[in-house]
Amino acid sequence: MCGIVGVIGKKNPAKIIIQGLEKLEYRGYDSAGIFVTGKNKQDYLVKSKGRIKELKAKLPQEINGEIGIGHTRWATHGRPSELNAHPHTSEDNRFVLVHNGVIQNFEEVKAKYLTNYTLKGDTDTEIVVQLIDHFVLTEKLTTKEAFRKTLAIIEGSYAFALVDKEEPDVIYVAKNKSPLLIGLGKNFNVICSDAMAMIEETKRFVEIADQELVTVWADAIQIEDAKGNLVRRESYEAQLTLNDIEKGTYPYYMLKEIDDQPAVMRKLIQAYSNNQQELTISQEIVTDILNSDRIYIVACGTSWHAGWVGKQMLEQYTSTPVEVHLASEFGYNMPILAKKPFFIFLSQSGETADSRQVLVKINELTYPSLTITNAAGSTLSREAKHTLLLHAGPEIAVASTKAYTAQIAVLAIVAKVIGEAKGNLKALNIDLVHELSMVAQAMEVLISRKEVLEEYAQTYLEDTRNAFYIGRGIDYYVSMEAALKLKEISYIQAEGFAAGELKHGTIALIEEGTPVLGIITDANIASHTRSNLQEVETRGAHTLIISMSGVEKATDQLVLPKVHPMLTALVSVVPCQLLAYYATLQRGYDVDKPRNLAKSVTVE
Ligand code: AGP
Repeated sequence: MCGIVGVIGKKNPAKIIIQGLEKLEYRGYDSAGIFVTGKNKQDYLVKSKGRIKELKAKLPQEINGEIGIGHTRWATHGRPSELNAHPHTSEDNRFVLVHNGVIQNFEEVKAKYLTNYTLKGDTDTEIVVQLIDHFVLTEKLTTKEAFRKTLAIIEGSYAFALVDKEEPDVIYVAKNKSPLLIGLGKNFNVICSDAMAMIEETKRFVEIADQELVTVWADAIQIEDAKGNLVRRESYEAQLTLNDIEKGTYPYYMLKEIDDQPAVMRKLIQAYSNNQQELTISQEIVTDILNSDRIYIVACGTSWHAGWVGKQMLEQYTSTPVEVHLASEFGYNMPILAKKPFFIFLSQSGETADSRQVLVKINELTYPSLTITNAAGSTLSREAKHTLLLHAGPEIAVASTKAYTAQIAVLAIVAKVIGEAKGNLKALNIDLVHELSMVAQAMEVLISRKEVLEEYAQTYLEDTRNAFYIGRGIDYYVSMEAALKLKEISYIQAEGFAAGELKHGTIALIEEGTPVLGIITDANIASHTRSNLQEVETRGAHTLIISMSGVEKATDQLVLPKVHPMLTALVSVVPCQLLAYYATLQRGYDVDKPRNLAKSVTVE
């Protein structure tokens, strides 16, 4: 989704803004823009459709100024174009604004206040900058007053950075539901959607709460709530280094992040082990889950897929029923809840708007909740009662890999701890520290065999229009994730199916050469999935079987090292991630930045 950066008090703001925008590229965007001004009154507004490199090519050699804002846009209202790219300016060009989010009542605002204005583009954002201008001109308000009044009128999600050319020593910012941080420096300050954008400038950040308005000068900041009351808030140090966000010798972040997975498993063991080397989570979480009669897992995309694996583990170890829901459906179509529900929000970014709107409702209903996220301090983490971290390090490729496996590992730890507390025999008997170490080793084996997956991608996926992953039980859940990985970056139309369901309709799509990839890790259902693979092969499918040692057959194309039956997803997903990676490379697409997608989906 859109990314915002801003700098005040630094000599070369354009350079810092461009570097910051480049670090936000991973969020997904289709156009970008930058505005720089300063005391010399000369200003620069440059916008471009496409990539940051196209924006860079349009920038003048030298840009003087001490204050600037920049933006990457992921189009919601108005096509991606230079005109619709941010920053947006008021009719008289005095006010300059960037925005991340969606203004829901922009049509009404336009009709009520802005009939005299000629709008330049088609975005909802432009309404906001014109409205600020309108209040300054017609009601003689100060810029801050006009901004506050505007914030009270608009509805929706936003993170804004506003510059008034007549006050070239200040940036006004505000947020509601969309992420925005202030970074503190020595005689300079920065703003950014994500700390990683400005980590080269500072490690010290201040959070902004929804509906606050912040005035940012080079040497100070002032936070006010919606009514104008001053708010004091301590800064914190971001636990992030430049190294964490660089891909080093890797050609793509996705490959690095696939390779990171064994280390993440080991990090999780460490992070969740006590002095006796036993896995543990906070007692408050244990008590809340023990007091509940049903667990609801709410998530989107890959995180939702991890939730399905989590359901299996939680139900088997805790005997508590678990439901898995898509956040975008749950919020507006809530099922009848159990008497004592407990909610788990799974979100790599912790910023996903669909999940957040559910959490807001859950909080209103005062039900206990836990966010499992990779982003400490993220909105979902702050707003849920409890948080467990994924400790996966920044995940920058749009296609989620290490966050998926980290989510499953954390859910396994939760299942084990709660199961033990309930005296469940399965939970008592599993040595999860050992089993997760075995998973890390198995992942390493697969990662060391990349050339095999590269070859299979060529043999099975080259030139294909579509592909199917099939499996049963946990293998079905992994099939859904494997198919999402493949489709989102290679644009092959891929679907994951419950193997037994294929013959109830989808088998009609099987033609000569259609790739069908079977995942088989569970001895109890292996023969059934093999029969289903046989059925499609008879109809011309090109089948590739990924099986686990112990249930393999000599003809299977890839045999996975054996791990505990509860943890097979952590291993079987790795070759699927690699197949997606290589299929995409072979098609010549950008692995890390697939078209139309955003890393952190901050609009509903
Ligand atoms: C998967 O590769 C995608 N990046 C996407 O499905 C993602 O998992 C989804 O948007 C949810 O994001 P979250 O985990 O940050 O909430």
